[in-house]
Amino acid sequence: MSRIVFLNGSFLPIEEAKVPFMDRGFLFGDGVYEGVGVLDGRLIDNEAHLERLERSLGEVRIPNPYSRAEWTHLQEELVRRNGMTEGFIYFQVTRGVAERDFFFPENAEPTVAMFTQAKAIANAPAAEKGIAVVTVPDMRWQRRDIKSINLLAQVLSKQAAKEAGAQEAWLVEDGFVTEGGSSSAFIVTREGSIVVRPLSQAILPGITRKSLLWLSRESGIALEERRFTVDEAYAAAEAFLTSASNFVLPVVSIDGRPVADGKPGPITQRLRQLYLQMASAPAMAAE
Ligand code: PDD
Repeated sequence: MSRIVFLNGSFLPIEEAKVPFMDRGFLFGDGVYEGVGVLDGRLIDNEAHLERLERSLGEVRIPNPYSRAEWTHLQEELVRRNGMTEGFIYFQVTRGVAERDFFFPENAEPTVAMFTQAKAIANAPAAEKGIAVVTVPDMRWQRRDIKSINLLAQVLSKQAAKEAGAQEAWLVEDGFVTEGGSSSAFIVTREGSIVVRPLSQAILPGITRKSLLWLSRESGIALEERRFTVDEAYAAAEAFLTSASNFVLPVVSIDGRPVADGKPGPITQRLRQLYLQMASAPAMAAE
């Protein structure tokens, strides 16, 4: 079966999906994106992702081409046409095609592109063993709350992590961890509290982070929304990350130092199970 993508109103085989040379996404990185996890063919936390898309578009003043119902229909149709049951759906909106000029074009239509990536999330090997992270300076811009397609700093940071034998970079500013290159960063203290950085323009408001905070409150796990330092992370009882494409993933080493005994911790594993349960029974979160 050929891979089907969505581009500007049409479902097409990927080979036929062409974006014009002068697209502002290509020339300026002038666009925003979203990514949603898919489990058993269902979109996980999709309403919250569409809400964040609306916000990102509003912040950069690109009109939203579709209503939430229209987006959902297109996403479901793309998942169906690709026969995907588990993985990730990526979608982006750019300011459109115009002669290169920094000022907003007068009459450009936003370019809308969407594709799926099949991936094991529920039974990912990384979830069993945990992953390694390394810390690198956070060199991103000052509006990290916008899910911009400008990802050069993340590309360089994650590549540096890979070359150091790790699977994710934890970005550091003024001695504090901001977040992962493409995930939200958490630690668990020796006293058993989850610690996560509060929302601000310094980090992306992770949708999986939001669900995880809800789950931890519901299940009575202590939670501290505050910044944490790299030294606190080294001394933590557990560490983990969250993202739409991984849900909850244990972090078992930071900068080559094992986190506690170097195995996924019990609170992390419990939260991962709770998240998986919620993803399989989505009505629960709405109650
Ligand atoms: N990344 N922080 C950053 C910088 C991210 O890029 C992401 C997501 C997250 C987690 O957000 P969420 O839980 O809403 O996925 C945090 C996606 C998965 C990506 O770029 O592939």
